[in-house]
Amino acid sequence: MSNDIEFSQSPTSNGEVGSTVLSAHAPARREKKDPETGHEPVTIGAFFLCAIALLAGGSYLGATSGGFAPDHYTMAGYTPQAPEGTGGGGVEVDPIVAWRKAGKQGFATCAGCHQGSGLGTPGVYPPLVGSEFVLEGTERMAQIILNGLSGPITVKGQAFAGEMPAQKALLNDEKIAQIMSYVRYEWGNGIEEIVTKEMVAEARKLHGNHSGPQKFSDLAPADAMLPGGDAPAAAVDTEPAP
Ligand code: HEC
Repeated sequence: MSNDIEFSQSPTSNGEVGSTVLSAHAPARREKKDPETGHEPVTIGAFFLCAIALLAGGSYLGATSGGFAPDHYTMAGYTPQAPEGTGGGGVEVDPIVAWRKAGKQGFATCAGCHQGSGLGTPGVYPPLVGSEFVLEGTERMAQIILNGLSGPITVKGQAFAGEMPAQKALLNDEKIAQIMSYVRYEWGNGIEEIVTKEMVAEARKLHGNHSGPQKFSDLAPADAMLPGGDAPAAAVDTEPAP
């Protein structure tokens, strides 16, 4: 028979398969298949462990959760209240503090020269800490920020002959007002009255057209204050510029 491949023995003449074929298949049918790696059955012990853990957890929750009532862990008679210092609706930030905080961010413009500490660099960049240009008149200080300053000047008894670039094209009135408020208060400078953007607008009106380097002799008198300096804190417009 030409199409019989596997069988070592052909069917007998009466059509039955030979006994050697049957005896060859018997062990194969008897033996269990080898389990494939990674698909071995889990031991029964693991099922019992899980069952015990679930039972124990469930009964603990059932016994102590108080039926999951929302007030179960709240002290008797407790009424929730807004934290102190908040008007009940969210956290209220003091606008003056926020104004100076914005000034601190704006001060990054100045910190490259005057340093984050406000101490400057001896002989090169004058200090803003304890400086008479910061502690005295607001008009003079605003003027310096707007138009820059070309030495020589004396700050806290030390001579400087540097060149501060004008900031009026870089910073708007609000930014300058915030920076001035920050610098005049920070590092123990201690001036609590803030500078408003209206005050800086006034300084820009008075001095914004100055061209060329600004000298010490161009500055307003040391005690000249910009109008509006006594504005009560509550009247300060701390809305960000559009
Ligand atoms: C590129 C460096 C530079 C930058 C930026 C700069 N300044 Fe100045 N600033 C100077 C120098 C230099 C002087 C001294 C100029 C002189 O010798 O006449 C000075 C002087 C001053 C003075 C007067 C002197 C004193 O120490 O009190 C003030 C106030 C001042 N700067 C504030 C600021 C503020 C506020 C900013 C940021 C908005 C700023 N400066 C940005 C370099 C800089």
